Amino acid sequence: MNKDKKRFTLIDNELKKEYQLDGIKGSTGPDVINIAGLYKETGLFTYDPGFTSTAACNSKITFIDGEKGILLYRGYPIEELANNSSYLEVSYLLMHGELPSESDKKEFENTIRNHSLLNEQISYFFRGFRRDAHPMAMMIGVVGALSAFYHDSLNIEDPEHRMISTHRILAKMPTIAAMAFKYHLGQPFMYPLNKYDYTDNFLHMCFATPTEDYEINQLYSKIMDQIFILHADHEQNASTSTVRTAGSSLANPYACISAGISSLWGKSHGGANEAVINMIDEINNSNLNPKNFIDEVKNKKNKIRLMGFGHRVYKSYDPRAKVLKKSTEELFKELKIKSKELEIAKEIEELALEDDYFKEKSLYPNVDFYSGILLKALGIPTTMFTPIFAIGRTIGWLSQWKEMIEDKEFKITRPRQLYSGEINKNYKKVVEREKKSIFNLLWLKKTFLNNQ
Ligand code: ACO
Repeated sequence: MNKDKKRFTLIDNELKKEYQLDGIKGSTGPDVINIAGLYKETGLFTYDPGFTSTAACNSKITFIDGEKGILLYRGYPIEELANNSSYLEVSYLLMHGELPSESDKKEFENTIRNHSLLNEQISYFFRGFRRDAHPMAMMIGVVGALSAFYHDSLNIEDPEHRMISTHRILAKMPTIAAMAFKYHLGQPFMYPLNKYDYTDNFLHMCFATPTEDYEINQLYSKIMDQIFILHADHEQNASTSTVRTAGSSLANPYACISAGISSLWGKSHGGANEAVINMIDEINNSNLNPKNFIDEVKNKKNKIRLMGFGHRVYKSYDPRAKVLKKSTEELFKELKIKSKELEIAKEIEELALEDDYFKEKSLYPNVDFYSGILLKALGIPTTMFTPIFAIGRTIGWLSQWKEMIEDKEFKITRPRQLYSGEINKNYKKVVEREKKSIFNLLWLKKTFLNNQ
């Protein structure tokens, strides 16, 4: 991090005072204004709901240029990695900062392979869930519960403990996701097999059964691996920021990753891939055509969003969506089948990219727009889309968590607020208080009945 010569002046017109703020230059991307001492010096906070203009940390892992549609992992363009690398190689890169040598790669793959099995007690956790539980709900619970199994390595301040925890989480995530899937289906859990690589093992644990031989389709495995790579990290997105915030209190990494999975689940974030398929199915099964649907989205009163479109950072085509669109088209070509979903998606994309509403707001397809169609073509049910995103994102969460703990400027995350509530109220005994309105009473009754 270089201190830039650039300085900024903040002028308080009321007090007729000036404050000097330093600029800091990154290796690329927008410079930042260092406001770390602002409150001490001025008594003022900055206000930035949703952090649209706030750099919450200093990171060397991932860079996004949202205007140009560029995404780099440790300096390498995402397209090159997605088309040439493997998920575990990319994981090593994100975690350690450089691509591994041949021997380091082998050692890393072996380490991960040797941690893929779960403690047998974990299977009882699954059995506590309803069969119709969403796999994300099970993953949140089970990943958090892993903290109860590894007391030997929970000293966050010990680098060796941190490393073994990262290996364990990375290795066990596909096992947990596949178990959630199998539990949902009512099929027996399939143990990981160490003869397989990371992604083959995941497909084996999802689709094999004890009664039949299961042959892994190498094309499917290659695509799944590419999906993991494309989701591996995305700088300070909501779930990664959640992991950093949870970890900033020195909580254990299992708890932090469980928090990240929770944040990812929302349909504004990782849940969007599931929402895209639901949206396309709705168009397919109703009288709407893509053009009508786009009109419905543009009529803001409906509060319908075009799922898989728009991004806080990308104001151009998401480079991950480009890779996935190409892979989706290639897969259907290879399988020699026509996909109604792909046709609808492409039509929506074409209409939206030509439409002034989307052009003015710079709304383009994001990573979720094509990933659902691709996953569905691989035989993955909709409820597993976000768990697959979570598997891919795990290495990003872990790398960012490790980077944070090792950062010299590391501090517990503690944002401040603009308070706009009431002040100086006097306590009244319950008999002196006003009656609750009828609406509040109805709400209480409904809540009470729902909880019966
Ligand atoms: N469809 C229609 N309008 C949209 C969409 C959309 N998908 N996305 C944004 N807009 C509009 C908003 O209505 C708003 O319009 P206004 O200026 O007239 O009020 C404007 O574009 C800006 O939208 P914000 O919500 O303020 O943008 P923000 O950066 O906060 O949101 C988000 C980004 C949440 C991704 C949003 O674009 C969205 O909801 N997209 C659909 C969900 C989705 O695909 N999420 C996945 C994101 S990628 C990921 O997490 C992996």
